[in-house]
Amino acid sequence: MIIAPSLLASDHACFGKGAVRATKAGADWLHLDIMDGHFVPNISFGPQVVKAIRPLTKIFFDVHLMCSKPEILLEPFAKAGADEMIIHVELGEQVPSLIWKIKSLGKKVGLAVNPLTDISKVEPFLDKIDLLLVMTVNPGFGGQEFIHETLPKIQLPYRISVDGGINNQTAAECARAGADTFVAGTSLFGQRSLKAAISKMRKVVNAHNPALADLKM
Ligand code: DX5
Ligand code: ZN
Repeated sequence: MIIAPSLLASDHACFGKGAVRATKAGADWLHLDIMDGHFVPNISFGPQVVKAIRPLTKIFFDVHLMCSKPEILLEPFAKAGADEMIIHVELGEQVPSLIWKIKSLGKKVGLAVNPLTDISKVEPFLDKIDLLLVMTVNPGFGGQEFIHETLPKIQLPYRISVDGGINNQTAAECARAGADTFVAGTSLFGQRSLKAAISKMRKVVNAHNPALADLKM
């Protein structure tokens, strides 16, 4: 199980502090949301920010590219210290070459699918990627409400990350459906003790993970 706090929900005046805070609180990965103001109607931060926080922590950088032209950003983010780069399946025919490019940069590759996109679109790529990111809100903003209609997508027998509106209750629902990686912004960074919030989410996920439940029998 991976708990990945999303830096988007941390104090934007102190991204470095947020990254260190997540590391010290026992997060497995740090999720970095990159928004270009075109693929999504919002702008977040770019490779310079990632480069600046890279020396502060050894934590795995999970870079989620909500961008129309990721091809111009893959190398800069690889150099800035990304460990994984996630692109969106909605980019269509560019997807195979983007996957190839991320791999050739020596990074892990993720593929994200928006709530309104049919899951069949990701199937041709499942043997070529490391992780499938099921968007559980429409991308662009933190703090939105979890869309329950996305739950059937999580049932695909694959390494699945869920992103958007994840709190202890929705994490439990996603764990039951088969998710193993949990991206959460508001519900984690919004707590006074990030450490307590992460361990609580870990417990909740453990209690609702069907594989673990089977082991107990
Ligand atoms: C949404 C982003 C998410 C976002 C999640 O566009 O991809 O990673 O940070 O934030 P919360 O957990 O607040 O919904
Ligand atoms: Zn994200």
